[in-house]
Amino acid sequence: MRKNKFLNNAALVISFCAIYLQTVKAQNSVTTEKPVWVKETEAQKDKRMEWWQDARFGMFIHWGLYSSAARHEWVQNREKISAENYRKYFDVFNPDLYNPQEWAKKAKQAGMKYVVITTKHHEGFCLWDSKYTDFKATKSPAGKDLLKPLVNALRAEDIRVGFYYSLIDWNHPHFPIDRNHPLRDEKNVAELNRNRDIKKYQQFLKDQVTELLTQFGKIDELFFDYSYPGSNGKGQQDWDSEGLLKLVRKLQPDVIVNDRLDLSETNWGWDYKTPEQFMPAKWPSVNGINVPWETCQTFSGSWGYHRDEYSWKSSRQLITMLIETVSKGGNLLLNVGPTARGLFEEKANERLDDIAKWMKFNDRSIYGCTQAPDNFEKPDNCILTYNAGTKRLYIHVLSWPFKSLHLKNYKGKFRYAQLLNDASEIKFRYDIKPGSHTTETAGENDVILDLPVQAPGVEVPVIELVLN
Ligand code: GLC
Repeated sequence: MRKNKFLNNAALVISFCAIYLQTVKAQNSVTTEKPVWVKETEAQKDKRMEWWQDARFGMFIHWGLYSSAARHEWVQNREKISAENYRKYFDVFNPDLYNPQEWAKKAKQAGMKYVVITTKHHEGFCLWDSKYTDFKATKSPAGKDLLKPLVNALRAEDIRVGFYYSLIDWNHPHFPIDRNHPLRDEKNVAELNRNRDIKKYQQFLKDQVTELLTQFGKIDELFFDYSYPGSNGKGQQDWDSEGLLKLVRKLQPDVIVNDRLDLSETNWGWDYKTPEQFMPAKWPSVNGINVPWETCQTFSGSWGYHRDEYSWKSSRQLITMLIETVSKGGNLLLNVGPTARGLFEEKANERLDDIAKWMKFNDRSIYGCTQAPDNFEKPDNCILTYNAGTKRLYIHVLSWPFKSLHLKNYKGKFRYAQLLNDASEIKFRYDIKPGSHTTETAGENDVILDLPVQAPGVEVPVIELVLN
């Protein structure tokens, strides 16, 4: 009898535990299972991403009210500025020198094949005439839609159009205050949050995304930003990420979507990885398979215009960054933060001009290129890229050597070599025997390229090998 009672109690406790665990699991559950509305096959996805993987190089543009503060686009968060006090930037925002054709031309000259613009950043200010808020360019002293003219200018230059859209919105009355919110340290956060309804906010996200995907023609890339799940943060359940993505796929089935909806655990909730201000050591992979990736990078550490920021990268660093990204199978999205008057600052222009100069002579080693096959060893101080379509290998020489570039095990793998910048032949030899002036003991499959003593006059010289 006693034993029975004990067993009954134990069973009760166990079933309580099971129910409790299930509830906790449901609350924290992350969607990983493939929903029925996801129909695309791997092959279809590859096709959809083809232009993007060939393009390799895009421009990011961060432009909004924070451009007036000119001290980082997170200024509202960092200085804990309430929406009311932030309004002073709205009241003066008047980009009188804005010339979208000029922006498009600069991107084009630098060799960028697509441009991703912040339609709305975390501050909530919209560059387009959204029906769902008054916090927008048309109501500010700018007095007009700033997005449409850029979209048109880009298309006129044959540049693809990408939209950055912030999931976060520090201006929206239904966005619950969380650990990143400018009001996070107010004493009455609970009270302030009482009337904030995340469901209403979810609808707002969908409404705005619908506008962006129905009023501007074909959108090529969509950059959602960003999720920070966990304690007092926000993630897929807050945004209704699955619902949002479903809507996106319905409105624009070809658009390429980044990985910041907090659906990274799935194999259907993102198209590419987004390492930010970071160069991966090798091609990023998931479960051992290399995945598409795009690294977004700044000139100086800030995305929005930052008047007093001096850690600018050199043109050489930026060009090398592009080469290195492509050598690992990725895309580079390089950011410009225009001023509140609508201009790219001089330091940005100088770098874009330098990149343009380099790309004019060397873009063949970038477009349509990717990581070189494993059987091509990297020579000293070099970075390799490879075009599988044209069967050419590109050797980017970071430090110009004296006359000889030694290629290990390259014998029989290529039939012609030239400098890319002027298409001048580079002679090469193998069967290298030590002579009275040389000590060469190269392997029998090694090749020596006979280079000119003077480096070609481009920032990073490129040698093109026509492969067998
Ligand atoms: C971040 C930042 C942001 C920037 C973005 C670019 O997540 O919040 O300010 O826009 O990355 O990728």
